[in-house]
Amino acid sequence: MRLRRRHVRRLGEVPERHRDTASRQRQEQRAADLHRLDAALLTFHRCCLPCCHRGLLPRAVPRSECLVHYSLLSNMFVIDKLIIPGRRCGQRREDLVDHDARAGSAGLGLDGKRVLLTGAASGIGRATATLLAGLGAELVLVDVAPLAEVEAEVRRAGAKATTRVGNLADEPFLQALAAEEGIFAFANCAAVFSREGWREDLSAEARFDLLMRINVRAPLVLGNAFVDRMGERGGGFIVLVGSAAGRNGGGIAGGTPLDYAASKGAVHTLVRSLSRHGVGRNVLVNGVAPGPVDTPLARGLPFAPSALPLGRMGRVDEIAWPIAFLCSPAASYISGAVLDVNGGAFVG
Ligand SMILES: NC(=O)c1ccc[n+]([C@@H]2O[C@H](COP(=O)([O-])OP(=O)(O)OC[C@H]3O[C@@H](n4cnc5c(N)ncnc54)[C@H](O)[C@@H]3O)[C@@H](O)[C@H]2O)c1
Repeated sequence: MRLRRRHVRRLGEVPERHRDTASRQRQEQRAADLHRLDAALLTFHRCCLPCCHRGLLPRAVPRSECLVHYSLLSNMFVIDKLIIPGRRCGQRREDLVDHDARAGSAGLGLDGKRVLLTGAASGIGRATATLLAGLGAELVLVDVAPLAEVEAEVRRAGAKATTRVGNLADEPFLQALAAEEGIFAFANCAAVFSREGWREDLSAEARFDLLMRINVRAPLVLGNAFVDRMGERGGGFIVLVGSAAGRNGGGIAGGTPLDYAASKGAVHTLVRSLSRHGVGRNVLVNGVAPGPVDTPLARGLPFAPSALPLGRMGRVDEIAWPIAFLCSPAASYISGAVLDVNGGAFVG
């Protein structure tokens, strides 16, 4: 008899003690509620969840106005409508950033997404611009150098682009970039490499300060601003380009200046710090640390590419792909990582 009962339960039938009509109705009502709450989860974005976790829910708001439930089906908080004085959650999902890779319309899911990209005029930044354009992103191209050529490339790929020509060491320019609206992803490729001859018009101290302003302060200011702005929109992606030199002090290619290597180590730390700030708001911050790549920055360095594990330097597209991936919903469960893209230099 016992065996038979267990068997019946396993088949999912209602146990005997629940067979009366009232309890069946209650069960049906509960199932309907749970389904409705799960539908609400689909309708309203998860940006509301941090509000729950951080205790931002006002106790005084009547339940009829602030419908926050714990869905047993999805094992998460679900919000139908949340009204907090001076604060509005409950924006429609479609207004917000969708982090679900499966929901991406195509490929990496960047179709129509606005990406702000620094260092877009040359090398890795330029390759990233054309790749993102091919993936359907709408670009805000930033560089101190002219951007007309890359803008034309991006438009030829069928994407929209606007340009911002200016110096990242210039505070008003930096603040104007930080105020850009509707940015889905921010990728920072711009940097200076202080090889011999770079800004010899300046004192050693002024050169160091300038390099740090461009390589570290600019991504710090922009990253910090975009964590907040993307967080308000429901999420986003930030990718900072570091360097293998920031990992090992510059051992792969000879001639890596000390201040450059130190600045890239700072960028890697910045990735982790920004990730801490952003992750609770669905803003995912990661880094890419390239080894030697064939760009104007690395040309002429005193080392033999044939001695590298793959027998060659990296190509710009081989760095652009990881950047694009980390800018996309395909990377929806990665934050605080710095991806080594160096052709196996650390293991070869
Ligand atoms: N090429 C390599 O071997 C290599 C290796 C490791 C890391 N990186 C990193 O990759 C990124 C891209 O480098 P790249 O090799 O394509 O170099 P690159 O010199 O070809 O491109 C750098 C771009 O940054 C822009 N830039 C420099 N200072 C600026 C400023 N003050 N304001 C605005 N824009 C500015 C430049 O005009 C240029 O277009 C950099 O962060 C670099 O440190 C490169």
